[in-house]
Amino acid sequence: MAELLHPFTLVLFGANGDLSLRKLIPSLFNLHQDGRLHDDGCIVAVTRSDENREAYLEQAKAALCQFEKTPDEKIWRAFSARISHIQMDAGKGAGYSKLAKKIAHLPANRIFYCAVHSRMYPQISEQLSAHDLISEQSRIVLEKPIGTDFASAMHIDQRVAEFFTEEQIFRIDHYLGKETVQNLLALRFANSIFEHQWNQRYIDHIQITISETVGVEKRAGFYEGTGAMRDMLQNHLLQLLCMTAMEPPASLDPQAVRDEKVKVIKALRPITGEDISHNVVRGQYEAGLSNNERVPRYRDETGVAHDSTTETFVALKAEINNWRWAGVPFYLRTGKRLAERSCEIVVEFKEVPHTIFEMQHKKTMANKLVFRLQPDEGVKIQLCEKRVGSQMQVRPMVLSLNPVSQQKKRVPDAYERLLADAINNNATLFLRQDELHAAWHWIDPILQYWATTDQRPEPYNAGTWGPAAATMLLARDGRLWAENS
Ligand code: BG6
Repeated sequence: MAELLHPFTLVLFGANGDLSLRKLIPSLFNLHQDGRLHDDGCIVAVTRSDENREAYLEQAKAALCQFEKTPDEKIWRAFSARISHIQMDAGKGAGYSKLAKKIAHLPANRIFYCAVHSRMYPQISEQLSAHDLISEQSRIVLEKPIGTDFASAMHIDQRVAEFFTEEQIFRIDHYLGKETVQNLLALRFANSIFEHQWNQRYIDHIQITISETVGVEKRAGFYEGTGAMRDMLQNHLLQLLCMTAMEPPASLDPQAVRDEKVKVIKALRPITGEDISHNVVRGQYEAGLSNNERVPRYRDETGVAHDSTTETFVALKAEINNWRWAGVPFYLRTGKRLAERSCEIVVEFKEVPHTIFEMQHKKTMANKLVFRLQPDEGVKIQLCEKRVGSQMQVRPMVLSLNPVSQQKKRVPDAYERLLADAINNNATLFLRQDELHAAWHWIDPILQYWATTDQRPEPYNAGTWGPAAATMLLARDGRLWAENS
């Protein structure tokens, strides 16, 4: 029987934005359908545009049908009865009295979810406080990216901290809610066989890739000022790196896990000056074929400037300065309009010190542990076995551990898990202030360097694996990206 969540009032700012319609409302619907939402679970959808509740619900239902599934009519009706609606400008004080009146008699466990641009977080916090809407039982959920660089993130964070305590601030990174990321923790810390190998003595390098086939879609307004570094690398990729590289925490307590994660970010070797052009590749997609369809180049997408230098691809080589990881490169990569949609953490072990077998392609025979987060979640181990019937040739074979796709139970989406945690006040999978600051601190010199150079991002054709320079980043070290090996 699924655990019933606490009664709650969830105030959703930006309720008709892309994130809310595509992810948040469908996730809340799934929690409802699974019987996890308390009868006293209320959602207040805040939108700026002039529409009434009925029009909003229609929009929400259409999005659910488009992005998730056509809901059963009876279940949708019961779910939508939880949703009330307010039309107001979250940046201005005027609407907050309406909001105060609306939530006065709803459950005191209030979650203010900000699915809006991070520049609005201070204003929202200030107005909530001015209208006496924040109590000890309130929390604020902040979407990434918070700010556009270290200074702006600090500013936003400090302003929000005037009204909410650190324990009340839930900085969300939905990659931490993905099933395989949880499984990474389980595999690492519930098995002693991995822990002994999990260091520079046995691991050659680690690759973390989040590749998307979609382009900028209708999000140019957001993406033009953001780019792949701020949108994906500063948060999702660094978080995956932390989960892979952190020391075993003393417990699953939020502070214990976050203490270990922040140590990893702080131990990252700074990439500055000359190092940047050597160790970081940024790219921008040109026209090409994506899923067999011709697609335009980034600069011809609606809302994108014709001379835009926004990167839609970034790859970099990171190193962690500590005993466990000294000398083990972490290659991180993400991009839009790439050849495949996938997210993988590939841990490649060192070759055996001395080979007694015939191996045709020694490089591709190394043991690998692959955590696949999407599209088909699961864990695989690549080992070597004897080729049947041969003299003494060996070949790679893959063992799949517990593929998530073969589970009988529906696997909850990352946002379902994180929304449930926010409702129940469990902050383990949310970011603490020092993690956010450390991440920006590490990324900032790269962003500043790009802002001052007149070099354009490297072009790559849509439907490929990114610019040639990204292949060179590994080739130079005698390595290959996973799709080539
Ligand atoms: C979001 C980014 O955080 O993550 C998007 O803003 C990106 O640009 C998305 O498309 C990818 O998430 P997922 O879960 O679909 O891989």
